[in-house]
Amino acid sequence: MDETIAVVMAAGKGTRMKSSKSKLVHKIYGKELVKRVVETAQKAGVHEIIAVVGYLKEQVMDVLKDTVTYVEQKEMLGTGHAIMQVIPNLKGRKGRILILNGDVPIIRTETLKNLLNESIEKKQYATILTAIYDNPKGYGRIIRDELGNVKEIVEEKDASEKQKQIQEINAGIYCFDIEELILALEKLTPNNAQGEYYLTDVIKIMNEKGLKTGAVVVEDNTEILGVNDREQLQMLTEVLKVRINKEHLKNGVTIEDINNTYIYDDVEIGMDTVIHPNTIIKEGVKIGENCEIGPNAYIREECNLANNVKVGSFVEIKKADIGEKTKVPHLSYMGDCKIGKGTNIGCGAITCNYDGTLKSKTIIGDNAFVGSNVNFVAPVNIGDNTFVAAGSTITEDVAADSLAIARERQTNKEGWKRRL
Ligand code: UD1
Ligand code: CA
Repeated sequence: MDETIAVVMAAGKGTRMKSSKSKLVHKIYGKELVKRVVETAQKAGVHEIIAVVGYLKEQVMDVLKDTVTYVEQKEMLGTGHAIMQVIPNLKGRKGRILILNGDVPIIRTETLKNLLNESIEKKQYATILTAIYDNPKGYGRIIRDELGNVKEIVEEKDASEKQKQIQEINAGIYCFDIEELILALEKLTPNNAQGEYYLTDVIKIMNEKGLKTGAVVVEDNTEILGVNDREQLQMLTEVLKVRINKEHLKNGVTIEDINNTYIYDDVEIGMDTVIHPNTIIKEGVKIGENCEIGPNAYIREECNLANNVKVGSFVEIKKADIGEKTKVPHLSYMGDCKIGKGTNIGCGAITCNYDGTLKSKTIIGDNAFVGSNVNFVAPVNIGDNTFVAAGSTITEDVAADSLAIARERQTNKEGWKRRL
């Protein structure tokens, strides 16, 4: 059977991060760099992922758990050496293998699919992802012949002055034929300026054998940027933020300020929804059509908002299922709750969902009116068409169509101030 396998190189040291943690477990938008790469590969349709680990491998394994198979590279003798460690896992298998970098975290699924498709359609034994850089210094250069066929990759340190002028660089991401990759890896030698086993030499080895190789130029150069220090980590976070926000714009969502809106991965937002500035929406949240969110809203994990919902300023919600036309307009915390349709939650209302040990649920029905500054001490169930008076601390269930008041009566002492 033809398989599609991916290898993620995750053995590197990452000294420039100035961190006690492996660079690969630093996060972009709440997700570790290496996990982001693994998930992108999964979405591109690979059957199995192998991670080459080394430096601080326990940390990487703690993040990836059993989503990948692990291979250890004990000494860092070059990218070719890293992939040689995988040979025992590849022997006897047929198909294609994607080589990815654990520290190149914002590569897109579509790009990996394009690379795979190109290699299949053009029947190539090696397909390299490349980019055109104004300043290609430091990267491996793509050497092509007069007809434009890829011949080899020459590393900066081994390149002639003329080769250094080439602006097409190797992104370090490839698709190979499994069987031919194994044969080529077995021929690698460290006879080069850095004394390393270069994975890039595989291209020349394959060409000399008469095997067809090729390249795909990446559409967006920012995709192949790597993370070596905190400044690059911050820069990639910015790039990812704007990329995701623009995707939502394309789908018919209004985002007033794309630089100050933070939408994590795999969020669904319906048409005509408006997102005001300083809103944070966590991974996997679902928001319907024509909703209004923010400014300064914090929509955390496992929230599901139907159409025409309003979640306004300084509102934090978590594990909240909110029905159509319901409004939570200001200064609320609604966590572990289910709220029906057409309900209004007053300013400052909160769910007291946590007693220090257990998280409990608040259920509020349809067409309820919750006054300002109400506390719902969960677990509690508020029926349809109820009215909860402002300032109430609700500890008991409220039946449908009822009024609930749970607060101290006010006492006015006349003349009290004059007598002082
Ligand atoms: C490599 C490419 C270069 C390309 C560049 C893109 C080679 C020889 N050169 O160069 O053509 O332009 O990437 O960024 O492949 N790694 C290991 N074990 C090792 C060595 C490296 O796991 O023994 C990992 C590193 O942690 C890193 C990746 O492989 O994630 C790339 O290694 P790096 O040393 O950064 O390669 P470059 O010299 O940048
Ligand atoms: Ca590098």
